Amino acid sequence: MGILTLGIESSCDETACAVIEDGRIVRASMIASSADLQSQYGGVVPELASRMHVEAIVPCLQETMRQADVSYDDIDAVCVTKGPGLVGALLVGVSAAKAICEVKKKPLVGVNHMAGHIAANYLTDPTWEPPFLCLVVSGGHSEILLVKDYDDLSLICATRDDAAGEAFDKIARVIGLGYPGGPKLDRESKNGDPHAFSFPSPRIVDSLDFSFSGIKTAALNTINQVRSKGGEINVSDFAASYQEAICSILIDRLNQAIKLTGMKKICLAGGVSANSCLRKKIEELAHKTHATLCLPKMSYCTDNAAMIASAGYYEFMRGVRDELDMNAYPSLDWSESYGN
Ligand code: KG4
Ligand code: ZN
Repeated sequence: MGILTLGIESSCDETACAVIEDGRIVRASMIASSADLQSQYGGVVPELASRMHVEAIVPCLQETMRQADVSYDDIDAVCVTKGPGLVGALLVGVSAAKAICEVKKKPLVGVNHMAGHIAANYLTDPTWEPPFLCLVVSGGHSEILLVKDYDDLSLICATRDDAAGEAFDKIARVIGLGYPGGPKLDRESKNGDPHAFSFPSPRIVDSLDFSFSGIKTAALNTINQVRSKGGEINVSDFAASYQEAICSILIDRLNQAIKLTGMKKICLAGGVSANSCLRKKIEELAHKTHATLCLPKMSYCTDNAAMIASAGYYEFMRGVRDELDMNAYPSLDWSESYGN
């Protein structure tokens, strides 16, 4: 048996546990989601999420250990998301991890959730290694990073306002698709014309940074104008056009980042990396620029613990250990984890 890491993830509305071997082989990965319950409220209610984590964490751990066919004694390190995320939600995973470490005398490794998302690529392609460029797009993040090594990341650009996932979720709700909006908007787009509506494509001078608040406002204005005249938006066309506009901006900046860095290895990470339009566009970009591409497996795009156990494995191997007084860090930043 290789090095086994137990991963625990509870930063938002998924309680997830996983056991990974040597950072790459998934022995077991379980996800208990409260998204269905949260959808009744149109979004994540932090207090509800925390309570769901409390109920789900122990059965999720037990089932993961059973499926992986290992005991806590076999585990080499317990890796847990320490941030960013909802503080009450994070604390459930962090407390569970600490309890296992205290009782079983195992090392604790706190993991940055976004570094976990990047590791979805390590779980997808066993040969995928730094250096590479990664477009990180989730509910709270839109960034391009140059991943020079497992522990050496540099930020090339980020969003000045909304994240791409946030921009998807907001408009999906307004056009009646509900929560979680991103996947529903993606599904609806399949029947729509991506050129039926046009949206602005903002560019910030001398920067690759993203800004999605303008495009979101333009979408809201279009919807309001149509509705104020008694009309209704063609939901499929609108979803397809809006998705096309956002994905085009993301891919344009990634193309610029390839030119800027000369890096010809590219990948995606974060919940929005499940988006079919974004996946198609990055494939086209890779083809056009002769770049090598890794597309994370769909099951590892959105929140899961396998990615946390993988990212944690690389931290563990380079000697990172956290004390049992480790806290949860709701607004943990890249620079706090990777020093740049
Ligand atoms: O990474 P994630 O599961 O949680 C965060 O760390 O934020 O990402 C969730 C985000 C949500 O905004 C969700 O709408 C978006 O990812 N998302 C998608 C798709 N699947 C998830 N957005 C567009 N298309 C999808 N297929
Ligand atoms: Zn996430």
